[in-house]
This record gives sequence, C-alpha cells and structure tokens, in this order.
Amino acid sequence: VPVPSRETYVQALERAKLAAFRPGQYVGQESFMEADEIVDLARSASVDRSTGLLDLCCGVAGPGLHIASQTGCSLTGVDRDPGAIDTARQRAREAGLSAEFLVSTVPPKLARRYDAVMIMETLLAFRDKRTLLTSVRGLLRADGTFFMTLEEGCPLTEQEAADMPYSDTVWLISLEEMLSLLQETGFHIESVSDHTERHQKVAESLFLQYRGLSEEIARQVGEKTCRNLVRSTQLWSDWLSKKRVRKFALVATRKESNDENR
Ligand SMILES: C[S@@+](CC[C@H](N)C(=O)[O-])C[C@H]1O[C@@H](n2cnc3c(N)ncnc32)[C@H](O)[C@@H]1O
Repeated sequence: VPVPSRETYVQALERAKLAAFRPGQYVGQESFMEADEIVDLARSASVDRSTGLLDLCCGVAGPGLHIASQTGCSLTGVDRDPGAIDTARQRAREAGLSAEFLVSTVPPKLARRYDAVMIMETLLAFRDKRTLLTSVRGLLRADGTFFMTLEEGCPLTEQEAADMPYSDTVWLISLEEMLSLLQETGFHIESVSDHTERHQKVAESLFLQYRGLSEEIARQVGEKTCRNLVRSTQLWSDWLSKKRVRKFALVATRKESNDENR
C-alpha cells in the first residue's frame, strides 16, 4: 500500500478531529494544541498585526493561519513536505489570508529576519536541539520572540521506542536541559506554562475517535498507517496521563550578547 499523500491523510482524519476537539477548537492543527491555546500563546509572545511571523515545520499551517486570522500578523510557513505546503497555500487562499509558504528542511536558509518564530508540536522531531536553536536565533531580529511547545521527559527506553511508531522522530528532553540550551544559545526565557493535562484530554479524545472511525480511516490511508496512528495517539494519551511525558509552552526572546544580565 503506497504512503498516502498529505492531503489524503489530512482529509481522512478530519471527521475524527472535528468530533474529538471541543467545538471551535479544531483549526487544522496536526497536534494536541487547541485553537485557544494557540492564539493565547502567540499573544503572550506579543504577536500582533505588525509582526512578521515565521512558522517552522508549519505542516498544513492550521496553527499559523489561525494566528494570522486572529492577530493580523504576516505569516511565512516552512515545511519540507511539498504536499503539506500545497494544502497550506490552498487553505490560505480559501481563508483570504495572504501568507507565504516555502518547501524546505528546517532550519531554512533565509535572507530576511523575523519578529517572531514559532515551532508548534515538532521540537521532538529534532535530535540535535542545540543546532536548531542556534539557527532559530539567526532567523530572529534583535529582541525577536521565539515561541514553541515542548515534549518533555527523559529519552525513550528501548522498549518505549519499540512500542511507539516512528520513534526515530521522538527525541524528548528534560525541561531543565531545554531551558539551559535556550540560555546557552542566546535566548532569554520569558515564560513557561504546563499544558500536560489539557493535551492529555485532547490525546485521549483523539484516540477514541481514531479507534472508533478506524475502518473509515484505514480505507483512505491504508491499514498500517491507520494502526500506527491509533497506537501512537493511545501511547501519547497514556504517557501524558502518567506524566511520563509533559507538555510545555515556552516563550523566549533573542538576547543580544551585551545583554547577559537581563
Ligand atoms: C506534527 S506536524 C505539526 C505541524 C504544525 N506545526 C501543527 O502544529 O499543526 C510536524 C510537521 O513538521 C514537519 N517536519 C518535521 N521535521 C522537519 C524538518 N527537519 N524540516 C522541515 N519540516 C519538518 C513535517 O513535515 C510535519 O509537517
């Protein structure tokens, strides 16, 4: 069975997601963040209509476009999946939002600097977070803001990695280590908030919907992809409920080198 295109995958999950999220809280995100959390995080990072926002690993840009529609900021999204970027462009057109999207691996090489950079629900895919953070800093203007969600915990054991589908994209890090890395790579930490309980509820609700609609989903994406989706969502729900993994939202600002004591 061929790997489904991103558009097919997103469409196949749409019904389950609409049922799983509370009314009004599903805005095309491929994650456990609710619409209100996404906008609140952006606002806490001072995103407004004057902000040039760079969304790294934007996927189909559910979160980025929602922030753009609510704040009026100008959005640039980057993802390495051309199918995701096609869908993001189409969604922007349908929503009447002017946003720019680029197909590139993250971190991208870009000439301009941004007022804010976001990475939503994808830090775990980067094993080498130090290199990523250094590149993000280089994409920000002086005093620019970086906001992100963090999958927090000690590295997966061999057994956990064997249980979790696509575990080669799951690189957990402790909060302490992440905060140190941010400071060492030239960021000042502005805020840290714990979203574990909210995300556990969303993960559990997604798991129940995916399992309940698994025949319909499997017809569109194939048995194996569907099985992996149900299993991974179940494990996230379980790990979040046991606090094996915690979810945090962080806001940090680019610190200038002569500004160590802020
Ligand atoms: C879980 S989705 C999250 C999408 C979006 N941020 C959201 O919250 O809805 C992760 C996305 O990151 C992209 N991605 C992962 N690693 C990447 C990399 N190194 N370079 C570019 N894109 C990457 C994937 O293609 C996918 O679209």
